[in-house]
Amino acid sequence: MAANREQFGSRIGFILAAAGSAVGIGNMVGFPVAAAKNGGGAFLLIYTLFVLFICLPVMLAEISVGRHSRKDPLGAYSDMSQKHPGWRLAGWLSIITPFMIAVFYLVITIWIFGYLVQSVLGNLDTLANPDTFNVFINSHHLLYYALAVLAVIYLILQGGVKQGIEKAAKIMMPALFIMLLALVVFVLTLDNAFAGVSYYLVPDFSKVNGSVVSAALSQAFFSLSLGMGIMITYGSYLDKQSDLAGSAKTVALLDTGVAFIAGLLILPAVFSFNPNMPTSELSDSSVGMIFTFLPKIFLALQASIGYLGASVVASLFFVLVFFAAITSMVSIFEVPVAALMEEKKLSRKLSLGILGVVLIMMALMAGVSFGISEFFTSFTQYAGQNKSFFDVILDLFYDSILPLNGLLICMFVIYRWKKVNLSREIDEGAQHYAQSAFERYVNFSISTFIPIILLLVFINTVALKYFGASLIG
Ligand code: PHE
Repeated sequence: MAANREQFGSRIGFILAAAGSAVGIGNMVGFPVAAAKNGGGAFLLIYTLFVLFICLPVMLAEISVGRHSRKDPLGAYSDMSQKHPGWRLAGWLSIITPFMIAVFYLVITIWIFGYLVQSVLGNLDTLANPDTFNVFINSHHLLYYALAVLAVIYLILQGGVKQGIEKAAKIMMPALFIMLLALVVFVLTLDNAFAGVSYYLVPDFSKVNGSVVSAALSQAFFSLSLGMGIMITYGSYLDKQSDLAGSAKTVALLDTGVAFIAGLLILPAVFSFNPNMPTSELSDSSVGMIFTFLPKIFLALQASIGYLGASVVASLFFVLVFFAAITSMVSIFEVPVAALMEEKKLSRKLSLGILGVVLIMMALMAGVSFGISEFFTSFTQYAGQNKSFFDVILDLFYDSILPLNGLLICMFVIYRWKKVNLSREIDEGAQHYAQSAFERYVNFSISTFIPIILLLVFINTVALKYFGASLIG
């Protein structure tokens, strides 16, 4: 079975696919806004330290568990623990989490596609109207956009690892890099662009407090697609000759690089729109930023480059975010699909079909929780707040369970698989790893402060989200 497991065709194929997963909406908007609001260069510094010292070892652990077991995350936890029920539970968590995150990510990807179509059709002026978003997310047109997005995801995943995931990444990722750079070069020529750049880069340590630090860690963790079973699954498609340590470093670098460069696009654009922009005006959420704030900024470009020019820039931006979102969407949905194929010995087509139907139903429930359905809109209440079905998925899986999954993979490596085996696995294909300082660092960190920090983040999130009590500044 392991012998004929699907595999990536090349090292660069894996790197682009994993970077495609990592580079997503979080990089394009989440990161620049978080950096701008939380101390600019100071946030960048903290974020980079977290990527290097906390996220990279976790990523390496996930990829290694995947390649060692050559299984989906449930199979990996199960096989490598001789079917220990506790670890099987961790396995279940790492396939349910991506499925649920796929539900909300799909909804946002569908909105992005809708905005892309509308800006291509020349309706940027409508998109820039602050009331449009609410009408848009509750309109029946979404169904058409949803069908188109689902068809794209289906076609890619149906192609399998090499012909689908890898091929799509090899086309979309270079295209994404080029579009991103082109847009950055363009916005840097705008008036006041450099006020945005300096706002983004000049460190302001006075803004850094406990919650900024914890937000930086969550952002880094999510951005590298950790805790979602994705790196385990993609790692399982690698052969024994591949250099896991080198690939993980490259993926982390690409992801951080793209997030950083996206900031050079967003902030100059914001400041050229209004040089006195108080950052409190920046939307808190990525969603508000993409769907209400940025269209307004793009429309304002018509003063200098005309309506057509402004529409081209907006369309290019939405293609960029759409590509970023699709490659992430593909990676996250591959996790439960791979698990169903493997565990129930089903064909790829059938697994995709079954999970696709469930995904559509769940996404519909999430999609109508912005007003269309009263039941899903006022789904429940906790910590004194009304929560829609969409909010619950976000709070539960994105905010709470991701760090928990990160903690579990560390515990799994330390107590079950053992660090020597991790080193041995990475050392195959990455010669000299076993004696390196990096190896000592990975083994030390993963068995000491990384799990402790992830545990604290988990406890703090639970306290904050469900009991309204923050444990840190
Ligand atoms: N890394 C992605 C981002 O930054 C997060 C993600 C990956 C979300 C895969 C869903 C699926 O947007």
